[in-house]
Amino acid sequence: VGREPLKVMISGAPASGKGTQCELIVQKFGLVHISTGDLLRAEISTGTEIGNKAKEFMNAGRLVPDEIVTAMVTTRLSCEDAIEKGWLLDGYPRSFSQAQSLEKLKIRPAIYIVLDVPDEILIDRCIGRRLDPVTGKIYHLKNFPPETEEINARLIIRPDDTEEKVKSRLQIYNENAEAISSTYSNIMNKINGNRPKEEVFKEIQYLLLQVQEDRMKVTKSG
Ligand code: AP5
Repeated sequence: VGREPLKVMISGAPASGKGTQCELIVQKFGLVHISTGDLLRAEISTGTEIGNKAKEFMNAGRLVPDEIVTAMVTTRLSCEDAIEKGWLLDGYPRSFSQAQSLEKLKIRPAIYIVLDVPDEILIDRCIGRRLDPVTGKIYHLKNFPPETEEINARLIIRPDDTEEKVKSRLQIYNENAEAISSTYSNIMNKINGNRPKEEVFKEIQYLLLQVQEDRMKVTKSG
């Protein structure tokens, strides 16, 4: 009661498991999941102006221009549900200038989580990834096959999940990662993401509970 809601930022290379962990974090902590990739894919599928502009960049595995993404994210972060329940920001910031945009607006998370996974595993995860357009759930042909034949029949492949595009996305990620983490070095927690998803989640859950606890102490003593 009267506690400021939790604000979490999650980062990591393409297919490091951000979306998968976010599903679990939302279930447990009730935060509002704001994924720039999901927001952009929704703009594309409804054919908005933003979607039309973003499409060619995304399908080529390149970053969408800052002005499009930054406006979209800051608008979403200022919605009532995010302010009330707290947020889980996934896929933003993705460059130093995006991190600076948030700093200028004094939008800061309580914790910055980075999922660490070796490159060769990331490529395999992207190539095997499938999405359920009905529930938004993330599957993998080998690691997490769909539960029923009905789901299996409707699964879709992301256009940027070819080996060539994954390599380009990975390169862009590696070029930017250090500059972003320098902005959040005092709240950064790097986690080994190359483990079963439940194990990864256990560690994230521990960290988030710790952040919540620390903030209670601060509230009590101050
Ligand atoms: P975005 O949608 O953010 O893609 P991404 O960062 O490349 O991340 P992914 O969604 O590919 O992977 P993930 O880490 O969520 O992994 P997942 O859980 O699905 O962005 C897409 C594009 O949008 C960008 O390329 C860019 O063009 C544009 N964009 C977005 N944000 C932008 C920004 N801020 N600025 C500019 N442009 C922007 O898992 C992957 C697979 O692995 C799945 O099949 C899953 O089942 C499996 N898996 C997950 N965890 C495990 C595990 N522990 N063990 C085994 N398999 C696992």
